[in-house]
Order: sequence, then C-alpha cells, then structure tokens
Amino acid sequence: MTNNSFNEKFEEIYKQSAQAISIAPGRVNLIGEFTDYNNGFVLPCALEFATRILYKKREDNKVVVHSLHYPGEHDEFSIDGDITPGESQWGNYIRAVAFVFKRQGHQLCGLDLLIDSNVPQGSGLSSSAALEVSMGGIFNQACQLNLSGQAIALLGQEAENDFMDCQCGIMDQLVSANGKKGHALLMDCRSLETQSVSIPEDLSIVIVNSNYPRKLVDSEYNQRRIDCEEAASKMSVSSLRDATLDNLNAARSIMTDNEYKRAHHVITENHRVLNAVEALKNNNMKTLRELMTASHQSLKNDFEVTVPETDGLVQICQEALGTQGAVRMTGGGFGGAIVCLCRHDDIAKIKEAVEAQYHARFNIHASIYVGKAGDGLQVSEL
Ligand code: GLA
Repeated sequence: MTNNSFNEKFEEIYKQSAQAISIAPGRVNLIGEFTDYNNGFVLPCALEFATRILYKKREDNKVVVHSLHYPGEHDEFSIDGDITPGESQWGNYIRAVAFVFKRQGHQLCGLDLLIDSNVPQGSGLSSSAALEVSMGGIFNQACQLNLSGQAIALLGQEAENDFMDCQCGIMDQLVSANGKKGHALLMDCRSLETQSVSIPEDLSIVIVNSNYPRKLVDSEYNQRRIDCEEAASKMSVSSLRDATLDNLNAARSIMTDNEYKRAHHVITENHRVLNAVEALKNNNMKTLRELMTASHQSLKNDFEVTVPETDGLVQICQEALGTQGAVRMTGGGFGGAIVCLCRHDDIAKIKEAVEAQYHARFNIHASIYVGKAGDGLQVSEL
C-alpha cells in the first residue's frame, strides 16, 4: 500500500491525521543460526520487507491499535494499570513492548496506531521482531526517550522473552534496529558490537519460503536453548561461545546425546560465521557454498531444526545452482525459508527448479523473493 493510501486509512479510522511513521524491517540470516543466545556470532541482513506503523499521540493514556491485515479487529489497553495479554495475538506484541518499556521505568503516552507489514509471516523472516522494533521506535520518539537502536532492540527481545514466552536471542531485533542498506551485519552477540559487511554488487539474495505450516516452534525452540545451556554448564563454561571441540569431546560422557549434538552445532557454526565474513568480503562463492552447505547439514543432523520440506528445497536449489550458489535454511527452523546466494543471472534457475520440483514432491507451493539488504529502523515525522 502506498504511503498516501496508508495515511488515508489512518484518517478514516481515527478521524485525524497521523503525526509520524515508524518503519522496521524483517531480516534474513546468511549464516550463524542459534548462536545468538549462546553469545556467539551471526551474520544477518535487514530486508526491504518491513513493518510500518503510523501513529498519533492521544490526550489520554490509552493505546489503540488497528492493523490493515485484520480489518475486523482492534486492540485497546491502558498504559496506567498492569499490562497483561489480551485476545489479539498481534495486539499482544504491542502490549509486550509497552510492558517492557514501562517495566524499565520509561514514561509512556497514549497512542493511536495503524500497522501495515509486507514481511511474510511464519517464514522465519522475523515479522515479530519487525513489529517489536517498529513499536519500540514509536515509544522512543513519541515519548522522547532518546534510546539507541541497540537499547530498542534489547527491549524488543525482552518483550519476546518475558511477555510472548519465546526465549529468542538478540539477532532479529538488533538487525531490524541497526541494519544497513547493501550490507550484512556481523554481530558479536556477547559484546553486541556489530560490523557491517558490504554485500558484493553481483550477489543476489534469494529467499524461498517453504510455506510449511510451522508447529510447536516456541516449545522446540526453548528446549534447544535449555540443551545448549546444560551442555555449557557440563563443560564448565558460561556459554557455548567459550567452548571448543576439545572441551566438548572431553565432556561427552557426561552429556546426553542431544546436548552433545546441539553444542557441536553451535561451536562449529561460530567458526563458519567468521569464515563466511571473509568469504563475503572476497566474493568467494566456493567458500560461501562450502560453509552454507555445512551449516545446513549441521542444522539438520545436530540441531535438528529442519523439516523434509526445507531439506528438499535446499537440495533442489543446490542442484539447480551447482558450483554457482550457496544455499541453507535460514531463521528459527521447523519450516520457514531457505536462503540462496547466487549471481543475478542464476535467479531464473532457482525459480525453474522450484516450480518444477517442489510442489510435485511436497504438495505445497513455495514463494520466492529476491531480497535486498535494506536499512534498519527509521522513524519520521509526517
Ligand atoms: C529466531 C530467533 C533468533 C535466533 C534464530 C535462530 O529467529 O528469534 O534469536 O535464535 O531463531 O538463529
């Protein structure tokens, strides 16, 4: 929807104009999966797909929220009392952000809000982080809190951990807040330092969404995190970031199989991220391909977060691209999307192969997007 018709919709609902717009993107992770909550390294980039929220401050202390995607529904709550979950699932993300800002002692204000988003939902491209960061940007601006992108991202993560019950790491919110056009962001999830890494001009990022319906994602996700923490504690390190393969092998006899495998994934994945940064800087497709292939295998066999549909898509795209592409699953797993890095001319090969084979094998249609690395959070007065 264009900015003009989005504004008109706001006026139609609230009988007055919006004062500002907050825009926060979804992300695709190039490599470094499930390493963030183990204090490790990740290499995502923000996308041009984004969640936009128009707002206007209210005279009272109510937050009223409508979404273009759920026209019959709206949510409404007061920032005065306790903020608790309501009936609307998407409205709860707004409540979650209000809850953590308030808990941190920030003085909030009442708001009229209208949400629009083109981040594909349920695809592992972080539509929820985009919503949290976009909303955080609004409280920051409307209530003049002067928070940094990093502080907004940390609050977004707290909203997810403490209100939405998903024990996610910091990757999605931090890249949504601080992403940079044309760049991936290497993050050290322990220090939260970031380094932007330019994506070579001739490299395309193709995202293929399996459209496999994700189930039990949060409980499986949280269990993986528990396994990782147990493994770290059995190796007497504070997080898997500090563990080596030697530590892991020495502790093997006191670990469950799952703890061993989860830790093996994380320790090896951290190395792959740092090597991938060099490969990206040198536009070295051969190394990128090896690293992304190894990452996918590790997510399949050790971390066990892939499904036949995402494994199948990876195989289809790897075969279509041959030596000219690097492919792996991306995001939280259990369905969702895969990511391919390839030259522009080879995008057609992915499209052809997916169209010819995926539905025939899995009886679902995939969606293909050519992603562009975009900027992080932007809040502008209208
Ligand atoms: C989800 C979480 C992130 C990260 C990824 C897996 O996207 O929100 O914090 O753990 O899964 O890498």
